[in-house]
Amino acid sequence: MESLLRTPKIALLIILALLSLAVASCTPNANAEIISPDLGEKLAAAEAGSEVVIQPTPEPKRLADLSPEEITAGLPPAIADALANADPSHGADLALQYGCVGCHSLDPAQQMTGPTWHNIGDTATERVPGMSPALYLYESIVDPNSFVVPGYPANIMPQNFGDTLSEQEIADLIAYMLEQHGQP
Ligand code: HEC
Repeated sequence: MESLLRTPKIALLIILALLSLAVASCTPNANAEIISPDLGEKLAAAEAGSEVVIQPTPEPKRLADLSPEEITAGLPPAIADALANADPSHGADLALQYGCVGCHSLDPAQQMTGPTWHNIGDTATERVPGMSPALYLYESIVDPNSFVVPGYPANIMPQNFGDTLSEQEIADLIAYMLEQHGQP
């Protein structure tokens, strides 16, 4: 053995063999459970012998599922009154007049500075849990930074529409946007 170790090549081979053993002992176990955030609970349930129930992802809420009261819940009374008599097609004209369409498009394929208004009525129903779509749209116009749409920067949407638009104009814009729903 001593004479073997004196031969440099054999000593090197032995060292390499030991190294590869060390490395092999570090490789992960392919049969180990893959960890996902809520796996712990599910594993515990499975081990306790109870059935593991995986809840289906809830269907997104749509504007058409809501009653008129649910659509407008929480609006300031003056805006709610204005919305009751609003003219959506005048809202479309105002979107042009106030330059909304420079940043928002009805065409979802068109990349704009602001989020698309394609289906904005349904989007507004879902954006902030517990907030009615009309209230969400109202706040988006008069206080855009109260909720900043993910993936878009804050402070790009003009912050002063609440001062420059009349209540009826805001209501007409909301009515126009609420019409954009149920779109494929
Ligand atoms: C200079 C570009 C710009 C203009 C002009 C503009 N917006 Fe916006 N808007 C944005 C951006 C950017 C966002 C997303 C960031 C945020 O939430 O503030 C946004 C968000 C919104 C949202 C929320 C959309 C969603 O998907 O939740 C509404 C509603 C909205 N704008 C309405 C309007 C209306 C109405 C006008 C015109 C009176 C207008 N915007 C004009 C840039 C603009």
